[in-house]
Amino acid sequence: MQQKIDQYTAEINAYRPESATDLENFRIRFLGTKGLIKDLFDEFKTVSAEEKRVLGKVLNEFKKLAEEKYTFFKEELDTHVVAEQSGADLSLPGQGFATGSRHPLSLVRKEIIEIFKKLGFIVEEGPEIEDDWHNFSALNFPEEHPARDMQDTFFVKKDATNGDIALRTHTSSVQVRMMENGKPPFRAIMPGRVYRNEAISARAHCFFHQVEGLYVDENVSFADLKQTLFYFVQELFGEGTKVRFRPSYFPFTEPSAEMDISCSICGGAGCQMCKGSGWVEILGCGMVDPNVLENCGIDASKYTGFAFGMGIERITNLKYQIKDLRLFSENDIRFLKQFKSEVI
Ligand code: DAH
Repeated sequence: MQQKIDQYTAEINAYRPESATDLENFRIRFLGTKGLIKDLFDEFKTVSAEEKRVLGKVLNEFKKLAEEKYTFFKEELDTHVVAEQSGADLSLPGQGFATGSRHPLSLVRKEIIEIFKKLGFIVEEGPEIEDDWHNFSALNFPEEHPARDMQDTFFVKKDATNGDIALRTHTSSVQVRMMENGKPPFRAIMPGRVYRNEAISARAHCFFHQVEGLYVDENVSFADLKQTLFYFVQELFGEGTKVRFRPSYFPFTEPSAEMDISCSICGGAGCQMCKGSGWVEILGCGMVDPNVLENCGIDASKYTGFAFGMGIERITNLKYQIKDLRLFSENDIRFLKQFKSEVI
């Protein structure tokens, strides 16, 4: 009897069902009412009392083994059947979640903010619908002055008390709001959307984004302006990027300048992006005109300041070599999904 049990044990240990029928045959063969285990128990009744002591335990363990084997494979087969009926293939790898990507303008905006944050600049925002005072007059644009034509404006309405109401043409309006509502020192950058009445093309759009910068305190000089912007450019475009300032004109700064950087694409050798010159203009800047300070209630004999303004689209074009402004607002997923980033 011991020999039979050993032989069956080996058989059961090696067993794997090939199908549900196969497993059912296994059950009948070992566990069925006329099965081998039943036979063994019948035989057990006939052995001597001495043998019973040893074989009793062996036989019970063998029965347990056969039952466990059967239950194990039965459960396995049942899950398989459920999976097959539902059409699911459990061997397939799981599906990852498709995550969106950040808009390139948001990425660059965030990068700019992070750089200026390190220099102690805070972030300020203002309304997109502005009155004449904040967008023009306070910024030293005299009424009827041709400088107002520099920026083709979308007028919304004429207000009895506030005059023209318009979509802001630049973020410089936020400077005014900040200075009117606080006390120096001011050290802030002001990102936001601006609007101009331009025909839409690869190089111009009726709305775009700017970051304005303002630093007002006692003894702020043009040297501070240059050093701040120099640091910014090294951080954003990499060390070794050259800068140059060209004299310019803005009603709200005196003196005014435009800043060029050595072309980040050709390194200054000359290419399509810099039109062969090796330089690209990235922002306007200058010392805040004393008239602007006074218009905002700040004592211009005590305080001086610098300001600058740049287009986020322009910086993004340079960083990613994008040649058509329209791509930023068309929401083409093939364009947008290229800008995967670690920055959240
Ligand atoms: N507001 C100007 C524009 O939209 C940009 C600018 C130039 C802003 C010089 C400034 C500045 O603060 O100092 O073209």
